[in-house]
Amino acid sequence: MFSKGFLLACFAAQVFGASYRQTDSHSGSSFLSAFSYEAIADPTHGRVNYVDAGTASARNLTYASGDRFILRSDYTTKLGSGGAGRNSVRLKSNKQYTTSVMVFNVRHMPQGCGTWPAIWTVGGNWPNQGEIDILEGVNDQGPNQATLHTNAGCTMPASRSQSGNAVQNNCDVAATGNAGCGVQINDSRSYGPAFNNAGGGWLAVERTTSFIKVWFWSRAVSPPSDVANGAANVNTDGWGTPAAYFPSSSCNISQKFGPHNIIINLTFCGDWAGAVYGNSGCPSSCVDYVNNNPSAFSNAYFDFQWIKVYQP
Ligand SMILES: *[C@@H]1O[C@H](CO)[C@@H](O)[C@H](O)[C@H]1NC(C)=O
Ligand SMILES: *[C@@H]1O[C@H](CO)[C@@H](O)[C@H](O)[C@H]1NC(C)=O
Ligand SMILES: *[C@@H]1O[C@H](CO)[C@@H](O)[C@H](O)[C@H]1NC(C)=O
Ligand SMILES: *[C@@H]1O[C@H](CO)[C@@H](O)[C@H](O)[C@H]1NC(C)=O
Repeated sequence: MFSKGFLLACFAAQVFGASYRQTDSHSGSSFLSAFSYEAIADPTHGRVNYVDAGTASARNLTYASGDRFILRSDYTTKLGSGGAGRNSVRLKSNKQYTTSVMVFNVRHMPQGCGTWPAIWTVGGNWPNQGEIDILEGVNDQGPNQATLHTNAGCTMPASRSQSGNAVQNNCDVAATGNAGCGVQINDSRSYGPAFNNAGGGWLAVERTTSFIKVWFWSRAVSPPSDVANGAANVNTDGWGTPAAYFPSSSCNISQKFGPHNIIINLTFCGDWAGAVYGNSGCPSSCVDYVNNNPSAFSNAYFDFQWIKVYQP
């Protein structure tokens, strides 16, 4: 029997603690009903051709089996210099979220020179409804960077309680050449080949009206058990100092961030990966490399074990 005190404590935790219940669970083929394919032109000018659901399935660029969901680029076709870019996939969740916790259990992420993969959330009216980049980087250059992008009037305090290193504290895209306020995760295993060599890991984001927090746990360490197990309920109070912490003290989060869709995409070159390609130790030029070396992209894939979304 549970005591009245125990029940009251549970109720209090439910209401006042950072406790959330699972509302969505995606694994294997359920990704296909929860996300839509966006066969659009890359707004970041990548050497990519985002394909539709039929093409992705026919070419095996998305593949679901058991607890495995693969999203990859083409790695067999040599491209001419003139035509479309390398076939790849951009997925958008059918649902939108505001206050929530999302946990991404990722076994493998795209790697290779020229790759620019991302797991992120964004509103319909960019940048006025904000963007939250949870996993992003280019050309295998870790660590992972978690970044907010907003319109004017959202900045982050220089000193705050996070384990990562702030790159920039103004989230306004107009003031930062679209860079936003990024935080580098203080763990080399958070990105690229090092992430994959460790078997990937778990990424989590908690969004409230008071803050946005991002955590990362490599497969090589033990995350909190509610994270590792994809538990029916999670309590972020037990998750320790976040890798990235974006408080609302000088950024009205409920005003700067609208309802967000989850986006998973993999592009090549373009505004970021292309611009810094020459400094990344990668061969040739970015577009030539992507055009001419299909086999270099055999590891340019995400392998998701699951995504869970939690709400208050
Ligand atoms: C891919 O993801 C990044 C995430 O930050 C985004 O900036 C870029 O616009 C995306 N490209 C496409 C076409 O989705
Ligand atoms: C499709 O991709 C999956 C995952 O990479 C692989 O296991 C499977 O053999 C592929 N199927 C075909 C027909 O190539
Ligand atoms: C960053 O990581 C290093 C190496 O693991 C660790 O010694 C250091 O304490 C970390 N810094 C912070 C702020 O957590
Ligand atoms: C933040 O923005 C919301 C929505 O626009 C508004 O209702 C609220 O008063 C603002 N909070 C502060 C502290 O300015």
